[in-house]
Amino acid sequence: YTPPMRPYYITTPIYYVNDQPHIGHCYTTLIADVAARFQRLIRGCGTDPSRVFFLTGTDEHADKVVTSAAQHGFSPQQWADRNAQAFREAFAAMNCAYDDFIRTTEPRHKSKVPGYIERLMASGDIYKGDYTGWYDAGQEEYLTETAAKEAGYKSPITGRPLIRRTEPCYFFRLSKYQQRLLDYIDAHPEFVQPDARRSEVLGRLRPPAVLNDVPISRPVTDDPATQWGIRMPGDPAHRIYVWIDALFNYYSAVDTPERKDLWPADVHLIGKDILWFHAVIWPAMLMGMGLELPRTVYGHGWWVSEGMKMSKSLGNFIDLAKLKAYAERYSLDGLRWYLVTQGPLGGTDADFAHSKFIEVYNADLANGIGNCASRVGNMIEKYFGGAVPPRGGPGADGATQDWAARCEAAVSAATAAADTFDIAEAAKAGIRLVAEVDAYIGVTQPFRLAKAIDADPAARPRLEAILANCAEALRIAALLLSPTMPQKMADLLARWSCTPPANVPLADLARFGGPHSLKPGTRIAKGDPLFMRADPAEPAPGTGA
Ligand code: MSP
Repeated sequence: YTPPMRPYYITTPIYYVNDQPHIGHCYTTLIADVAARFQRLIRGCGTDPSRVFFLTGTDEHADKVVTSAAQHGFSPQQWADRNAQAFREAFAAMNCAYDDFIRTTEPRHKSKVPGYIERLMASGDIYKGDYTGWYDAGQEEYLTETAAKEAGYKSPITGRPLIRRTEPCYFFRLSKYQQRLLDYIDAHPEFVQPDARRSEVLGRLRPPAVLNDVPISRPVTDDPATQWGIRMPGDPAHRIYVWIDALFNYYSAVDTPERKDLWPADVHLIGKDILWFHAVIWPAMLMGMGLELPRTVYGHGWWVSEGMKMSKSLGNFIDLAKLKAYAERYSLDGLRWYLVTQGPLGGTDADFAHSKFIEVYNADLANGIGNCASRVGNMIEKYFGGAVPPRGGPGADGATQDWAARCEAAVSAATAAADTFDIAEAAKAGIRLVAEVDAYIGVTQPFRLAKAIDADPAARPRLEAILANCAEALRIAALLLSPTMPQKMADLLARWSCTPPANVPLADLARFGGPHSLKPGTRIAKGDPLFMRADPAEPAPGTGA
């Protein structure tokens, strides 16, 4: 019996619909996908969205959308529609199984945002004032004091002098929440993660730091660019600032009678660039609305490319085409494995380097799970005609390993890591189990025993027990690897005639020798290697060489 668990709700940032999807967007959504798959597996809830809910989407009310739509001869909405589709396709190409894709131009979002602003008005958190800043007339945008100073008070784009300008706008009283936020983050170490991010936020909240109120609206003028967005309730001469509009998506998506229980979110997964909005401004807004705060805001680091920051001018951007080229050559799950286990989930940035990719792919996949599964499958084929042999009683293998305990430890490690959002560790728990199977084969030497089988009657039950243990441990490893590599592991489990039912919790499913174990006689079909070995001499895919 497993006690009923709270539903799990995980979100990604909603991406600017103007960008072309690249490794950054795909990575964040992929990590959320793996986290959601782990939670579904742990709960044994299949794809029931009331138990595990994974939200991603697009942020569409930016001024840039109007400008580039016009350049391409589209209306802003048409342009947003086209580009939102590109994100959906990118996430489908990465096999990310989100439960919902929210777009800020959808009526279900647009219609609710003014109500949220009204709630903040009612709690006295919003007032009308004047915003003074450095205005870039060519770009029609304000620069912060720091950015303006860095640019020598000239437009970084056109080089023309910035104008000191004042305009009326609405403010959110962030200053009012400084102490409450500080107390909350101090008391809840899991709220901002990883720890480096938490310290960063605390440093900016602790006195003598002072929180300023934040502008949350922009005026509407004759310029069409200023007419794109959601209007302030009761004052159509102002529209809600795109960031404020966007943050509400996490709540608006589940603010329906059927989804009410999903709030508060368990994890807002984001990149470190947008930490302040998520760890300070958004929680303060939630406090103002009297809503519970998300359990964790997790700010991952940055992908760089071959040791360098990605940039259009260097031409080293890892775009979707490049990712697809990797998936084509090394399999999508090979790519997912590399991104998940080597990515910038912890404090530091990560390098997408071809040589590293090959090294990890060969070590963990081709020579790891792939080779181990082939070895065990081949031996069972050769010695037992492809049917799983009986495992025998304790000690039947003549060795001292306690496989039940080892597998249970691997399952607990993966579960604990998934719960603390250490997704790379959760993924690696399965590969460690594979390494243990390899080591066990090395020590027990089943291929030697097989030669003695006719001469020595004691050899047969030992050989049977060893290979049955290997197969059963690999079944469990495959379950633990399935959130990261869903297709390859489904393939392996199907070949081994042990496709798991979707509605059994992991603890039961993965019990060594338990009700879902590989029974004697189960057919283990050999097939092509799961992962072809990669040739380190081959040039990186997608480089046109
Ligand atoms: N629209 C806002 C977010 C609003 S959320 C309420 C936004 N969008 S974005 O399109 O710029 O996406 C930013 C996110 O993309 C980052 O937070 C991060 O998750 C991901 N990445 C973009 N570039 C990245 C890398 N080079 N490396 C890793 N992830 C990065 O900001």
